[in-house]
Amino acid sequence: MPRDFNRIVLGLAVFLALVLTPVWTNLFRSVPPLQDPEIATRNIPGKDKCVLPSVEMKVTHMNLLNQWRDSVVRNDQRDYATADGRHFDMSLSRTCMNCHTDKAKFCDRCHNALAVNPYCWDCHVEPLVQPASMGTEVR
Ligand code: HEC
Ligand code: HEC
Ligand code: HEC
Repeated sequence: MPRDFNRIVLGLAVFLALVLTPVWTNLFRSVPPLQDPEIATRNIPGKDKCVLPSVEMKVTHMNLLNQWRDSVVRNDQRDYATADGRHFDMSLSRTCMNCHTDKAKFCDRCHNALAVNPYCWDCHVEPLVQPASMGTEVR
């Protein structure tokens, strides 16, 4: 063992601690955890399924909304039939937000985390938050 063994080890330890400062300070910093979007109606019969299967909605909800808007605005066609025979009124506020009643706990949780900021709410009414079982009041 070299004579300076202890001092070398101590020196290395100090060196490593300093170099890794960003790592260990991060370990102890309280980062707010990413929160999952809240599915308010998961257990409410009739409202427990999205328009399309959830995996599809995750990726394509913005396309579906565009499709709905075009259908309503251009063709005055408001009825959307799903493959499994359900019918929805093509409406952002009256339909989507009737199940996803709390925009902040649903839409915003994803969008904020990803810095997406849809401009829809400049015109469309953001619903008043109510228990999901009561549906959404639209004015
Ligand atoms: C009838 C109630 C209902 C309607 C109407 C509805 N949703 Fe959903 N939505 C749900 C439920 C329930 C889930 C979760 C389903 C699951 O986990 O299988 C869901 C899932 C989703 C997801 C995926 C969330 C995730 O974390 O997996 C997105 C995005 C979504 N909906 C957006 C929309 C949009 C946009 C509309 C309107 C075009 C809409 N939903 C209309 C009930 C609804
Ligand atoms: C599971 C996460 C998730 C949920 C929940 C979610 N979104 Fe999104 N949304 C995204 C992502 C990711 C994008 C961006 C996709 C991209 O840029 O390609 C997006 C984009 C959009 C866009 C297009 C915005 C743009 O600038 O292109 C609209 C409109 C939109 N979301 C509406 C909604 C509405 C309304 C809700 C609530 C009913 C909702 N989303 C809930 C993840 C989510
Ligand atoms: C400049 C104002 C404005 C903005 C911004 C806007 N819309 Fe609209 N939207 C309208 C108007 C007006 C209608 C027609 C309402 C009707 O005939 O029921 C409409 C209709 C719709 C419809 C069908 C009817 C309904 O009740 O929802 C959908 C779906 C829709 N818009 C989605 C969106 C989405 C998604 C965004 C954001 C990406 C968006 N809109 C941004 C003004 C706007």
